[in-house]
Amino acid sequence: MNEESKKTAGKRSALFVEDGMVLGLGTGSTVRYAIEAIAGRIRDEGLDVVALPTSKPTEELASSLNIKLSSLIEYSDIDLCIDGADEVDKELNLIKGGGGAHTREKIIASASKEFIVVVDESKMVDRIGGFPVAVEFLGFGKRLVANQLRRIGGDPICRKNFKTDNGNLIFDTKFYIDDPLSLEDRINSIPGVLENGIFSRRRPERVIVGRGERYRVIEK
Ligand code: A5P
Repeated sequence: MNEESKKTAGKRSALFVEDGMVLGLGTGSTVRYAIEAIAGRIRDEGLDVVALPTSKPTEELASSLNIKLSSLIEYSDIDLCIDGADEVDKELNLIKGGGGAHTREKIIASASKEFIVVVDESKMVDRIGGFPVAVEFLGFGKRLVANQLRRIGGDPICRKNFKTDNGNLIFDTKFYIDDPLSLEDRINSIPGVLENGIFSRRRPERVIVGRGERYRVIEK
């Protein structure tokens, strides 16, 4: 059911892609379906798009499907970013970073005119925070960052055998979250932290929620 729901949401999002667009491509098992569907539209309809990937796995997938790739050095304005999420609340605050790609994902989403998130129903929650917040940090400041995260109510656990595409470490950090925007900013103000997985400053314009073969679209 979940896999079918992911596929439904991912495929639906590909219909928002238009000829000539600069696209941001997120990371994960749901957006994978979007990327495959976009590749299908390029092949069948001759769409001319260029895509900026948010991770090495996405870069490899898109390139294997013959999607033209570029980078933020060439394009600083992105028309549409499509990405997955680990949790979404009713105000469309997100938790991302289960795959450890949230830093690049947030950069790309922030540079995008439109941001669409694709999820299956299990990701919809009343309050984000059931899923730990991924905090990417420089290993140099590990102990200090952990102490500061505890001071603001977090319970940091270093992700084992993992380095981000940027060569850094991640603390998966459980928080009780009643003000996502303020927590996003507080975590990012800790010296040594690069970025965290709360997306409250840059929330999506639309979330496509798949449930089996059906879907619903939630708009900001
Ligand atoms: C990657 O770091 C994440 O932000 C993913 O976008 C998120 O974990 C969703 O992934 P799935 O679609 O695989 O659940």
